[in-house]
Amino acid sequence: MGKFVIEESGRLRGKVRISGSKNSVLPIIAATLLTDEECVIHDVPALTDVLVMQNLIEDFGGTTKWDMAREKLTVSVKSITKTDASYELCAKMRASFLAAGPVLARLGEVKMSLPGGCAIGSRPVDLHIKGLAALGATITQEHGYVHAKARRLHGANIYLDFPSVGATENIMMAAVLAKGQTIIQNCAVEPEIVDLSNFLTAMGAQIRGSGTDTIRINGVERLSGATHTIIPDRIEAGTFMLAATITGGDVELANVVTDHLKPTMAKLREAGVIITETDDGIRVEASNTRRAIDIKTLPYPGFPTDMQAQFLSMLATTPGTNIVTETVFENRFMHVPELVRMGADIKIDSRSAIIEGVPKLTGTQVKATDLRAGAALILAALAAQGVTEIHDIYHVDRGYFRFDEKLRSLGAKILRIDG
Ligand code: UD1
Repeated sequence: MGKFVIEESGRLRGKVRISGSKNSVLPIIAATLLTDEECVIHDVPALTDVLVMQNLIEDFGGTTKWDMAREKLTVSVKSITKTDASYELCAKMRASFLAAGPVLARLGEVKMSLPGGCAIGSRPVDLHIKGLAALGATITQEHGYVHAKARRLHGANIYLDFPSVGATENIMMAAVLAKGQTIIQNCAVEPEIVDLSNFLTAMGAQIRGSGTDTIRINGVERLSGATHTIIPDRIEAGTFMLAATITGGDVELANVVTDHLKPTMAKLREAGVIITETDDGIRVEASNTRRAIDIKTLPYPGFPTDMQAQFLSMLATTPGTNIVTETVFENRFMHVPELVRMGADIKIDSRSAIIEGVPKLTGTQVKATDLRAGAALILAALAAQGVTEIHDIYHVDRGYFRFDEKLRSLGAKILRIDG
């Protein structure tokens, strides 16, 4: 299972390069299922989630070549050889469901296991299914599987009840090969949607409005191969910004899009952190005194739910009363009892965490319950007195590329012990 052993590390200093975005690369790999031509993707981080998506492509009959040293993935799906996705791969990662749209669009049929709930909530896929049905698919759900069939999808007007990132992506990938025009309203506007849209456009898709709440797609007969570079991971960047803040450090980040970091930067500045733009990124300098803040998670461009846990670790030692409200997922405070075991004063009241800053956390044994919760505990441990052991770190490897190595390069005392 593996664990991290972390000692109080003092001020982190230095420069770190941010990797390609996990949440961009997963749908973009799924989109390669839409063409029989070769696609080349650059800045692909070697994360376990990316490996699962690569295996899923191979399971559907594609071939892949991953040059991990150059972070380059080449995918070729000359033909899709089956309609059923492997249960094991679907169960490993919720994002596997992103293959549903492309396989349905190209083959006219797909059968995928319904993703189960996970640590942060029940996470249904009803909006994905509603969208695919609107595009003309006949959908049956039985024995834990979704079976979608359509001789040829057709364009439709689709209004999403919630701007779901995954549903927007699945519907986009199905609609690019549908006959006629699709309009997706109240869709997600995250930077990862724009990245997927840019990749699909490079393949020959006709898409307008990505990055706004209405996307218009004119379906085409076929798509070609494309070459694409993944955008920098805004959540990894935000996590390193907090590593600098929590340790009182001074860290430069290279390979970032500052525009994507606006909500994170705004909240850090409100808390007293100094952030400046550099030639190739940003510099984060902690201040001696931090101010209490309130946060509410929202779809982009609101404050990202994927940064909530890491902020909680920082606010645990920010003097005063801080209130963090989670509106995107119903059960995303699993890290709180672990932080409390480290000496934090946090109370949960419905969807809000009320955090009374304490002067110092203390190291102990804790468990990562999901990806971002794991990152939050690592951050807390860097500034906690003594030694912290973090168990179940496979969650962290799902979404942070060489996290421990990158932290060590900034002076962190973090050791990986394989289990
Ligand atoms: C993506 C991100 C994840 C991030 C989340 C919100 C990837 C691979 N993952 O997840 O890191 O935390 O966006 O920014 O990109 N919902 C429904 N029905 C649906 C779909 C979603 O009710 O059919 C609900 C979810 O339960 C949740 C909310 O909508 O409460 C947001 O989910 P969604 O935007 O779909 O997140 P994901 O795409 O799963």
